[in-house]
Amino acid sequence: MGHLRATAVVLGLSVLTNVVDAVKVNPLPAPQSITWGSSGPISVGANLTLNSQCGEIVTDAWSRSWNTISTLKWVPAAVEASIAKFEAFPTETPLSYKSKRANSSLTQVEVNIANCDADLQQGVDESYTLAIGQSSPSVNITSKTVWGALHAFTTLQQIIISNGNGGLMVEQPVSITDHPNYPYRGAMIDTGRNFISLPKIREQIDGLALSKMNVLHWHMADAQSWPVQMQVYPKMTEGAYSPQDTFSHNDIRGLVSYARARGVRIIPEIDMPGHASQGWSSVDPSIVACAGSWWSNDDYALHTALEPNPGQLDILNNKTYEVVKNVFGELAGLFGESIFHIGGDELQTGCYNFSTAVQQYFAHNKSRTYNDLVQVWVDKAIPTFRSAANKTLMMWEDILNATPHAHTVPKNIILQTWNNGLENIQNLTARGYDIVVSSSDFFYLDCGYGGWVSNDPRYNEMVNPNASVPTFNYLGNGGSWCAPYKTWQRIYDYDFTLNLTAQQKTHVLGTEVPLWSEQVDDTVVSTKMWPRAAAMAELAWSGNKDPKTGIKRTTEMTQRILNFREYLVANGIQAAPLMPKYCLQHPHACDLYYNQTALSEYSTAQ
Ligand SMILES: *[C@@H]1O[C@H](CO)[C@@H](O)[C@H](O)[C@H]1NC(C)=O
Ligand SMILES: *[C@@H]1O[C@H](CO)[C@@H](O)[C@H](O)[C@H]1NC(C)=O
Ligand SMILES: *[C@@H]1O[C@H](CO)[C@@H](O)[C@H](O)[C@H]1NC(C)=O
Ligand SMILES: *[C@@H]1O[C@H](CO)[C@@H](O)[C@H](O)[C@H]1NC(C)=O
Ligand SMILES: *[C@@H]1O[C@H](CO)[C@@H](O)[C@H](O)[C@H]1NC(C)=O
Ligand SMILES: *[C@@H]1O[C@H](CO)[C@@H](O)[C@H](O)[C@H]1NC(C)=O
Ligand SMILES: *[C@@H]1O[C@H](CO)[C@@H](O)[C@H](O)[C@H]1NC(C)=O
Ligand SMILES: *[C@@H]1O[C@H](CO)[C@@H](O)[C@H](O)[C@H]1NC(C)=O
Ligand SMILES: *[C@@H]1O[C@H](CO)[C@@H](O)[C@H](O)[C@H]1NC(C)=O
Ligand SMILES: *[C@@H]1O[C@H](CO)[C@@H](O)[C@H](O)[C@H]1NC(C)=O
Ligand SMILES: *[C@@H]1O[C@H](CO)[C@@H](O)[C@H](O)[C@H]1NC(C)=O
Repeated sequence: MGHLRATAVVLGLSVLTNVVDAVKVNPLPAPQSITWGSSGPISVGANLTLNSQCGEIVTDAWSRSWNTISTLKWVPAAVEASIAKFEAFPTETPLSYKSKRANSSLTQVEVNIANCDADLQQGVDESYTLAIGQSSPSVNITSKTVWGALHAFTTLQQIIISNGNGGLMVEQPVSITDHPNYPYRGAMIDTGRNFISLPKIREQIDGLALSKMNVLHWHMADAQSWPVQMQVYPKMTEGAYSPQDTFSHNDIRGLVSYARARGVRIIPEIDMPGHASQGWSSVDPSIVACAGSWWSNDDYALHTALEPNPGQLDILNNKTYEVVKNVFGELAGLFGESIFHIGGDELQTGCYNFSTAVQQYFAHNKSRTYNDLVQVWVDKAIPTFRSAANKTLMMWEDILNATPHAHTVPKNIILQTWNNGLENIQNLTARGYDIVVSSSDFFYLDCGYGGWVSNDPRYNEMVNPNASVPTFNYLGNGGSWCAPYKTWQRIYDYDFTLNLTAQQKTHVLGTEVPLWSEQVDDTVVSTKMWPRAAAMAELAWSGNKDPKTGIKRTTEMTQRILNFREYLVANGIQAAPLMPKYCLQHPHACDLYYNQTALSEYSTAQ
């Protein structure tokens, strides 16, 4: 073996040559604290049984985890890599520690949960500990809540691996103490621009659960289509793409309970008053302004929408409030989740030139501005929603900082920030708003695929657009507004609390990667979501820095996310490849720099 080991050195860096190193890269997100001993692996019995007092969410979760462990018999990518390099299967060495642990094996999972009843809501304790070893036949898990125990299972299922011989093993002793840095770790799907089917949504939830993300933000409808069946207004689904492209109440309840069983909350969003046309128009055309208009990109001063098709709820039509109240009230009842997202983004003033009521409003008092009009929405809609259901409201930051925007927005509304990166994070937290960070320059998963509107003469150019011109922001003529594509490293490296005071930091609830769906449906949703969402998962769970040195650990994360991508695929989630497989098999061979500390804590280089 010796000489083979010696050749298995890449660029002067030792490759992973034993199981401890191999499994070290495994759990993603990296636990807050994980310590391995060197006693060698212990074998895992043919039936690792659960001992827990907390009911079926825990028992069901364990049977799923155990089913995955025992059927996948996962070979971590780093171990597979050493096989590929003709090394012996690395378990050979550790298993020769026969004197220590040869015949013992793990037989049960002992779960101690302090509070079986804590509901899955924002801020619920998700911490856990996991310990294996000390001549004990049990995996010991403790947690404050059921939801922490579920995270322990997803960790355990990533560290119990094949023993190369048809059986299973786990390195021991191992001791893990873990908790998330942020209580909100989300991804957003959009079923309004294109429909996404239930199986594909469940696939996203599976990925979220495996990466310990806990929120699926569901942007249910948009101007283009209304796929949500409503009992109060059955005609709304006339605005669906087809009768099949709809979600019934049962579908919604099913998704909510599927997600809950996996520790994932679903936060619904009905975007209002902007981004509203299909569905609403079927209830009453008078509540939608500019629905039939040309969106007027040609003459931008006259535009009624940022993208086709136009439509905004009429803020000055009383019927609007009756309809939004009924829609909100009905949907609020389907989600046990305490947060409801009511949109509020990208209002275009030009749309309201098609509203007689709005035109009269300005005619009656020449000092009124569009900000005053947006304030009318806030002042009427917020109490309307509050009277319909007891929910914490969440909105896009636009309501407070776009053109136009309201003057005052209640401080108990959570704002989702997507513009101007750190600048808006600074501003909103300084003003005392709780925020969720989804800065489009870092976290938007739909960026970089080019523009999608048709009849676009900007492509009719016989030279490649010059990406070096800063004002193009890599867009080039006909590029996408938020280009370039956000790579997993771009996502992972985002220090979204940079320069915030301790007080401001308390207002950051967490992060979210949105995947807008103008160019997304079942065929590509998973490849665009995964594994990049997992980079954010670790960023929000345990951070992007080595806890000891404070240096960015992106280079260490590389093997972890490459391995996790393989794991996602093995679990039925169609995650995209990030690199040639060669890079997975030759750790660090594909680094840009040989210097492993080239990433400083905060670097603007390159
Ligand atoms: C595993 O053990 C549990 C609990 O003892 C038992 O219900 C189950 O049937 C066993 N499964 C197998 C495959 O032996
Ligand atoms: C372990 O089990 C094997 C097979 O049952 C047996 O041959 C061996 O002697 C045992 N070793 C120890 C250390 O008990
Ligand atoms: C697990 O719990 C059992 C029973 O309390 C104990 O004997 C054993 O030492 C524990 N194992 C570890 C690794 O802490
Ligand atoms: C809307 O009306 C105002 C004043 O009536 C006018 O100045 C503006 O150009 C109009 N905008 C659109 C998009 O029609
Ligand atoms: C709209 O409702 C308000 C009270 O909320 C009322 O004062 C106003 O007259 C109503 N407008 C119309 C056109 O009915
Ligand atoms: C006209 O609008 C301005 C701006 O909202 C407001 O301050 C003023 O009170 C209004 N005047 C009347 C008579 O409503
Ligand atoms: C509203 O919900 C919150 C939790 O989201 C709860 O603490 C409060 O008691 C509820 N209020 C009412 C009136 O039900
Ligand atoms: C936030 O931004 C607004 C608009 O630019 C500005 O008026 C305000 O002073 C800023 N507030 C803080 C606290 O930075
Ligand atoms: C692209 O823009 C950069 C920066 O302005 C400039 O230096 C370069 O010459 C341009 N390249 C071409 C091919 O025009
Ligand atoms: C953060 O603060 C440091 C020190 O004041 C400053 O040099 C740096 O420019 C700030 N960074 C950003 C992105 O605001
Ligand atoms: C590696 O990069 C770090 C950070 O830029 C630097 O401090 C260090 O000197 C570099 N080491 C070598 C050997 O170049």
